[in-house]
Formats: sequence, structure tokens, C-alpha cells
Amino acid sequence: MKLLVTGGSGFIGANFIKYWLEKYSADDLVNLDALTYAGNPDNLNGFEKNSRYSFIKGNICDPAVVSKAIKGAEVVVHFAAETHVDRSILKPSLFLKTNILGTQILLEAAVKNKIRHFHHISTDEVYGSLNLKSKEKFNEKTRYNPRSPYAASKAAADHLVLAYHETYGLAATITNCSNNFGPYQHPEKLIPLAITNLLQGKKVPVYGDGQNIRDWLYVSDHCRAIDSVIKKGKCGEIYCVGGLKQDISNLEVIRKIVKLLNCRESQIEFVKDRPGHDRKYAIDWTKINRELGWQPEEDFEERLKETAEWYVRNEAWWRKLKGKNFQVFYRRNYKKL
Ligand code: NAD
Ligand code: DAU
Repeated sequence: MKLLVTGGSGFIGANFIKYWLEKYSADDLVNLDALTYAGNPDNLNGFEKNSRYSFIKGNICDPAVVSKAIKGAEVVVHFAAETHVDRSILKPSLFLKTNILGTQILLEAAVKNKIRHFHHISTDEVYGSLNLKSKEKFNEKTRYNPRSPYAASKAAADHLVLAYHETYGLAATITNCSNNFGPYQHPEKLIPLAITNLLQGKKVPVYGDGQNIRDWLYVSDHCRAIDSVIKKGKCGEIYCVGGLKQDISNLEVIRKIVKLLNCRESQIEFVKDRPGHDRKYAIDWTKINRELGWQPEEDFEERLKETAEWYVRNEAWWRKLKGKNFQVFYRRNYKKL
């Protein structure tokens, strides 16, 4: 089988490509990625020698590039997106272009090329925010209520995927998952930012009161979930994917990292809150468990420790990403620091 993966040079896409090529030795895979600031060829170092892997540098918003990349593919796994909420607040237009228009261009090509299965990677952020004390969780029937430009662009993309399924009969599925963490995540996101800032002797910026809650999913658990949906999922369906059984606040996550790296709590700094900051996400993953047999396997504490160790071992990898351009973004985003 031949797969087209979009955004395979980013965090989850690169982990997925490694997972898939290792597990399915008869499959070929094409990675279409524009190599934006978030796309990093180092994430797939050595893969250029793998005869089952090929790379096309190109933008999903370019129909000609997409039409070339999709030739011969049977399955499309769509990760490519602008993904950082803070950047979507600073510059929403790029998010609308890549996440909505880019998805529509891919869907168009998928219909034209009679793609057997189109799988779209989405997010729990489309459901909005839960109350901090609520025991409620998001599930596949939760009403969409996106609250950031990023979330709104992902919600629009989800609607387009389902519209192409209904209107043109495209065999499509969607996974809406929670916050991933693990190796190769860009240091703009909370866990790698905290680890790398501490390793650099810098402070860790905590938005607001630090009580916001996220549902953390280890990236290999996510890759297995996507695999289950591609192999056994029902077309036209959404599957929610989450990782945690217990709530954990951002501040607690950061405190754990501080402890793992033998740093001081005084390195935690409370900064101005993110505008429209969603208070809580929690995912009910009953459906994918019941229908496809998937469940998260990884232990949060253990994987957080391994993730911190990975960043300690791979300093050259993340140092490159925290260069001049990152500092410009950092200063703009964290004006108070
Ligand atoms: P990432 O930011 O690490 O990587 C995104 C990749 O997409 C990069 O390689 C980038 O170069 C590529 N890309 C961006 N714009 C492109 C374009 N116009 N054309 C082609 N390639 C382009 O993202 P990630 O964290 O790996 O997320 C992957 C997907 O999973 C996204 O769709 C995101 O919305 C979704 N998601 C992520 C998380 C998370 O916690 N990271 C959680 C839920 C859903
Ligand atoms: O929930 C899934 C989403 O998770 C994905 O769809 C997004 O692509 C991904 O970026 C992520 O979004 P978040 O905004 O939740 O992730 P981030 O790592 O930016 O922030 C996690 C939490 O930590 C959030 O409550 C904001 C807070 N935070 C973040 C940063 C970067 C801070 O307190 N300080 C920070 O410096």
C-alpha cells in the first residue's frame, strides 16, 4: 500500500512515519511538507536512504504540488497544519489558509484520485473549553465551539472533511485528540519549552494562574490510534483520542519537570494569560476503545521522564530551533519576560 502523509516533517507526522514504516514493511510512503519553521528535516534523519520513503517539499495550498504528490497513493494521512495557538493569535490569516484552504485542496485531489481512505488529524480544541471543576469530558457528540483562530480553522477543516464524505462519497475519518508530548516536539509548546528553558537556565513562563488543564497523550499512543482508525475505522466517523485518567494542571506538569531536571521552583514565572485561554480539556475515548480496541498504554509520569531525558540527550536538535527567529517570536509573544 502507498500512503501520502502531509506534514510528516513536524512532530507527530515524523513520529507517525517512523512508526508506520517500521510496522508495515510492505508499505511505501510519500511525505509532503512545506518545511515551515515547524517542519524539520532532522526529525527524519537517515530516512532519505530508505527506498520505501520519499519526500516532496511543497505546500498543500498548491494544487499542482498536491496533484503530483497524491499520484498512486491509496491512503492520505493529513497532519499538515499551522499548530501553535499563540501564533494563531498573532497571525490568524496563515492558519486559515493552510488549515482550511490547504485541507480543501487535498480533499479535492483525494476525490479526483479516488483515494481509498482519507484520514484527517484534528484536535480537541474544536470543542472549546470545559469548566475547571467539571467532571464532563469531550466526546464525538460534543458541540463544536472553537475559541481561538487555530481551533476555528481546525473546526472548519473538520466540517469540510465530513462535507466531502457526504457530498462526494470520499471515504474519510477524523481523529480529535488531546495535547501530544514526546520526542521531536517543537520547543514552542509547553512541555518542550519548559524542559529546554530549564536546561538553558531560563525561566518557564506559566500563563495566568497555571491552573488550566490539558489531557496529555503520549505521541506513540496517538500513532497507534491513527493506525487503528486507518485499519478498522468506519468512514464518515469521528474518533476522540485522549491520554489521561486524572486531571493535571499546567503548573503541576511544570513542577514535575522542574523536579525531574533538579531545578528550582523559583525558575517558574507567572506571566500574562493567553487571550481566550481555554480553561480545561478532557477527552472521553470510550468510542475508539469500544469499537476499535484502542486504549492509551503509556504512563504519563514515566513518559514525561523519558521525554525530559530525550531533550537532555538531543540538545543540538532543539538548540537549532531556538535561534534568532524563535527569539523574535518569543519576545513578541511573552512581552513581559
Ligand atoms: P507541527 O507544527 O509540529 O508540524 C506541522 C507540520 O506541517 C510541519 O512539518 C510543517 O512544515 C507542515 N506544514 C505546515 N504548513 C504546511 C503547508 N501549507 N503545506 C505543507 N506542509 C505544511 O504539528 P504537530 O504538533 O505535529 O501536529 C500535527 C497535526 O496534529 C496538526 O494537524 C495538528 O492540528 C494536530 N494536532 C496536534 C496536537 C499536538 O498536541 N501537537 C494535538 C491535536 C491535534
Ligand atoms: O489540545 C490539542 C492542542 O494542543 C493541539 O491542537 C495544538 O496544536 C497544540 O499546540 C496544543 O495546544 P495548546 O495550546 O494546549 O498547547 P501549548 O503547549 O501551547 O499549551 C499547553 C498549555 O500550557 C496551555 O494551557 C497554555 C499553557 N502554556 C503554554 C505555553 C507555550 C503556558 O502556560 N505557558 C507557555 O509558555
